Amino acid sequence: MKGKFITFEGCEGSGKSTQLRLLSEYLTARGVDFIMTREPGGSGISEDIRKIILNGKNTEMCDECEALLYAAARIQHLKQTVAPALDCGKLVICDRYVHSSLAYQGYARGLGTEYIEDINKIALEKFNPDLTVFLDISPTDAFKRKHGADKNDRMEQLGIAFHEKVYEGYKRLLPLYPRICPIDCGGTKEQTHLNVIKLLKDKNIIN
Ligand SMILES: Nc1ncnc2c1ncn2[C@@H]1O[C@H](COP(=O)(O)OP(=O)(O)OP(=O)(O)O)[C@@H](O)[C@H]1O
Ligand SMILES: [Mg+2]
Repeated sequence: MKGKFITFEGCEGSGKSTQLRLLSEYLTARGVDFIMTREPGGSGISEDIRKIILNGKNTEMCDECEALLYAAARIQHLKQTVAPALDCGKLVICDRYVHSSLAYQGYARGLGTEYIEDINKIALEKFNPDLTVFLDISPTDAFKRKHGADKNDRMEQLGIAFHEKVYEGYKRLLPLYPRICPIDCGGTKEQTHLNVIKLLKDKNIIN
């Protein structure tokens, strides 16, 4: 695969969408050939699976079903959207990836790292991102920015204790996955954007 693959991670409201929008503007202005995509989603089937996962009415969903749906959406998205773009030499930028599954389902839900790694083997082995940007801010601070959790989003409705666990899960991934780089995002959107650009340059993702 000729292109580079980078992903953004962080708790709800950490600023992923904001930073992807600013990065998109930056790359467009410089003529970089890239695609911006998201998980779960990024292909028709995966967007359908996203609706099932996030639907606030699906309160009976067991943890394993949730983890497998994320993995199913992921592999479809990888094969249908990500791989063709990488083969064409594009830079692929994705909002969330397998590290979300490790932090949310593996750690916070308690399914364990091994289970998540097992059901995401292809993603981890064949589509290992060149860089993962971790927007490092606690969920308490991040939710303040969003003015609280989205009432229609099943994951956001899980309460602050769950999201604190997700944050702890992310922190535990750092020594295990050296391609995850935490960046301070406690400042303004523009300051964080500059931190993102510096990181992408330092890691030779962009010139
Ligand atoms: N550095 C910042 N300072 C202040 N507010 C910010 C900052 N970055 C983002 N925000 C605001 O915080 C809110 C959440 O940001 P955003 O939607 O980008 O987060 P997200 O990580 O994509 O959230 P989600 O997980 O829900 O998709 C938005 O209202 C956004 O404008
Ligand atoms: Mg977002």
